[in-house]
Amino acid sequence: MGALQGKVCLVTGGGGSIGLATARLFVTEGARVMLADVDAQRLEAARTELGDAAVALPTDVAQRASVQALVAATVAQLGRIDVLFSNAGNFGVVAPIHEYPEDVFDAVQAVHVKGAFLMCRAAVPQMNDGGSIVITSSVAGLRGDPGVYAYITAKHAQIGLMRCLAKELAPRRIRVNTIHPGPIDNAFQHAVEADLARLIQRDGAAFFDEQTPLARHGRPDEIAQSVLYLASAQSSYTTGTTLVVDGGMSI
Ligand SMILES: NC(=O)c1ccc[n+]([C@@H]2O[C@H](COP(=O)([O-])OP(=O)(O)OC[C@H]3O[C@@H](n4cnc5c(N)ncnc54)[C@H](O)[C@@H]3O)[C@@H](O)[C@H]2O)c1
Repeated sequence: MGALQGKVCLVTGGGGSIGLATARLFVTEGARVMLADVDAQRLEAARTELGDAAVALPTDVAQRASVQALVAATVAQLGRIDVLFSNAGNFGVVAPIHEYPEDVFDAVQAVHVKGAFLMCRAAVPQMNDGGSIVITSSVAGLRGDPGVYAYITAKHAQIGLMRCLAKELAPRRIRVNTIHPGPIDNAFQHAVEADLARLIQRDGAAFFDEQTPLARHGRPDEIAQSVLYLASAQSSYTTGTTLVVDGGMSI
């Protein structure tokens, strides 16, 4: 029997790299999934790949009405919610503080901070007791780096949200944790590295690998395995924690 047999999992950023890799593993482990993403094309490709075990709804996690419609559609189509994987994300830019654009700062907080808040606020009343919420933060939620103002601020803020929720939802045995991936070998990270390279005047990928004891980027499926751990009963005594999956970059 799979680790998520019979469970219903809601995955935001489900059309993206880590979201799809995780949804794929969830389905392998017996779950049915609702995929949500603002990019309708990527979302449809993900849903098609996962077949009958998946449904999908284009969603902007920064918009209250969109999030409410997503949660309602999940309950209507799949009957329950056991796991929320709040994972949608954007990056912003890398720039010195005096040049950092205010609109970019706002747009990044809107997805990571307000988006995760809105998702939890809408989903919690519909979730089964004993469920699990996993929020994708980052190694960027645990350290500072020059120029990464919007993203690093947002990723730290998600820990605060997680800790409040972990205490509030413990009586219902709903566990709440953040996961903190290091650099992952995907388009999101490649774009970050291209931006960073302009600021530091050297190769962005090598910059990350040099700071990572395992000396490589991670793979989306490696993050998915750790999300599965937090989402399933394998971590039944784990709540309020920051699970770091970063090749050692944060030590
Ligand atoms: N790639 C990395 O190296 C890395 C490292 C640490 C943390 N993360 C985090 O992992 C998560 C997933 O990122 P990824 O690497 O799979 O990148 P990705 O770009 O492949 O996936 C992110 C997805 O979120 C979606 N999204 C963006 N704004 C949205 C919104 N308003 N509403 C709904 N969906 C929205 C995007 O369309 C995209 O499909 C993000 O939260 C990211 O910050 C990534």
